[in-house]
Amino acid sequence: MKKITIAIDGHASTGKSSLAKKIAKKFDYIHVNSGSMYRAVTYFILKNDLQNLVESDVNELIKKLQNNPIEFKFDNNSNIYEIYLNKVNIEKKLNDLKVSDYVSKVAAIPEIRKELVKIQREIDRSNGIVMDGRDIGSIVFPDAELKLFLTASAKVRAKRRYSEMINAGVNVNYSDVLENLKKRDTLDSTRKDSPLIIVKDAILIDNSNLTIDNQIQYISKLIRSKQNI
Ligand code: CDP
Repeated sequence: MKKITIAIDGHASTGKSSLAKKIAKKFDYIHVNSGSMYRAVTYFILKNDLQNLVESDVNELIKKLQNNPIEFKFDNNSNIYEIYLNKVNIEKKLNDLKVSDYVSKVAAIPEIRKELVKIQREIDRSNGIVMDGRDIGSIVFPDAELKLFLTASAKVRAKRRYSEMINAGVNVNYSDVLENLKKRDTLDSTRKDSPLIIVKDAILIDNSNLTIDNQIQYISKLIRSKQNI
C-alpha cells in the first residue's frame, strides 16, 4: 500500500495537531507539527530578549538561531517528533500565551520561514507523514497526495483552547484566548510570504460540530482511497 503525504492546514486552534497525531498513530505514519518550530523560534527570541532584532536586524537574528540549533527528534514510543533547543526538550514551553501572542509576527519573516521550510522538507517522507501548519499544502509539500484545510467558529476554537490550557494548569482567561486566535488568523492570512490560504486541491472541513472520532473516520476513508491509487 502506498505511503502518502498528508498536509493539514487551517485556522488557529482547529485541533490540527491532535487530529494529525491520531491519524499518524492509526496509519503508522510520522507526525510533524510545523507550528511548534515557529513557536520554538519565538520562545528563543522572547527568552533571550531579542525582539529588537526582529525589528532591526533579521540577519543577526538568523545567525543567533543557527548557533542555537532547533531540532526535531523522533520519539520511537510515541511516533512523534519533539522539538529541542540546544539539545533541551522545550515542547512544554511552546503553548504559553506570551509565545502565542508573538509567534505570528515571527512567522511573517521570510528569512525565518526559509530556514524552517528547509528543515521540514528534509524530513524523510518515505514511510508516510502527516504534517500540520499553515503553508504545508501550498508551499512545503505542494505535491502532497491529501490536503486538508480545517476551520471552525472562533468561539468554538477559543473554548477548546481555553479548556486545554486550564486542564494543563495554565492560568488564562477566555477572552484573551479568543483575541489571540482572531489576531493570529488575521496576521497569518494577510502576510506577504506564504499566507494561510485554501489551495484549490484542499478538502475543507469545518469541525465546529464534529467530534475527533467523526473527523478521523472521514479522513481515514480519504487516506485509504489515496493509498490505493
Ligand atoms: O496550534 P495552533 O493552531 O494554535 O498554532 P500552531 O500550529 O502552533 O502555529 C502557531 C503559529 O505559527 C501560527 O499562528 C502561524 O503564525 C505560525 N505557523 C506558520 O506560519 N506556518 C506554519 N506552517 C505553522 C505555523
